[in-house]
Amino acid sequence: MARLDGKVALISGGARGLGAAITAALVRDGARVVIGDVLDDAGKALAASHDGKVAFCHLDVREEAQWADAVALAKARFGGLDILVNNAGVTLAVPLEEATMAQYRWVMDINYWGTVLGTRAALPAMRARGGGAIVNLSSNSTRKIFPLAVTYSPTKAAVANFTKITAAQYAHENIRANSIHPGPTETPMLLGDGLPQGLQAADIPAIREVIDRIPMGRMAQPSEQADVVAFLVSDEARYVTGAELFVDGAGTDA
Ligand SMILES: NC(=O)c1ccc[n+]([C@@H]2O[C@H](COP(=O)([O-])OP(=O)(O)OC[C@H]3O[C@@H](n4cnc5c(N)ncnc54)[C@H](O)[C@@H]3O)[C@@H](O)[C@H]2O)c1
Repeated sequence: MARLDGKVALISGGARGLGAAITAALVRDGARVVIGDVLDDAGKALAASHDGKVAFCHLDVREEAQWADAVALAKARFGGLDILVNNAGVTLAVPLEEATMAQYRWVMDINYWGTVLGTRAALPAMRARGGGAIVNLSSNSTRKIFPLAVTYSPTKAAVANFTKITAAQYAHENIRANSIHPGPTETPMLLGDGLPQGLQAADIPAIREVIDRIPMGRMAQPSEQADVVAFLVSDEARYVTGAELFVDGAGTDA
């Protein structure tokens, strides 16, 4: 028996990058998955590639009504909801005084308020199943300072704090909540639409600089973050809640 047999998950931002890798890991471990994203074509194509084990719905995480639809789809298609992965996120690299308030608010609305709305939507469905597990995507930039991440890192610090409060408040209902804090990981968020033919990430000077600050000597692959999420939402992690798990090749303090 696989460790997530019978479990149903909802993953925001699941159409590509880490969300797509988390979807693959959870399906591998026996779960059924609803992915929600604003990238409709990519999301539908990804769902279609998983043989009926994955359903897609349009979800802008800033929209409370769309979260309700996503949870309703999990119930209608797969019978309920046990797992939520608040993964959708955006970033901008703009200096503190140059960033507009609209930019600050855009990142906060998606990264932080999207996580709050997702959690609020999922909790009643988890309660109905007698428990659940939430993983929120934070970042190692909550401890490692990247000056250009001024619109981004504070949103991830807020996510980590919110996660701990969720864990404390819902432990008695058998609902766990943890945050993972990835270091730089090879996804479209960092690499854009892909690398020019024949180039490795490390061939790009700005990325080389990032890699040089990681003791492991390389960025993470999406599957290396996804495997950690799959563990955290499984019963193997039944006493792990309120934790901040840094998955960054020892890069935080380097
Ligand atoms: N890649 C990294 O190095 C890294 C490091 C630390 C944390 N993270 C976090 O991991 C998560 C996933 O990032 P990724 O690297 O896969 O990025 P990505 O850009 O490849 O994927 C993010 C996904 O979120 C979706 N999304 C964006 N806005 C949305 C919205 N309003 N509603 C719903 N979906 C939306 C995008 O369409 C996309 O599919 C993010 O929260 C990110 O902050 C990534």
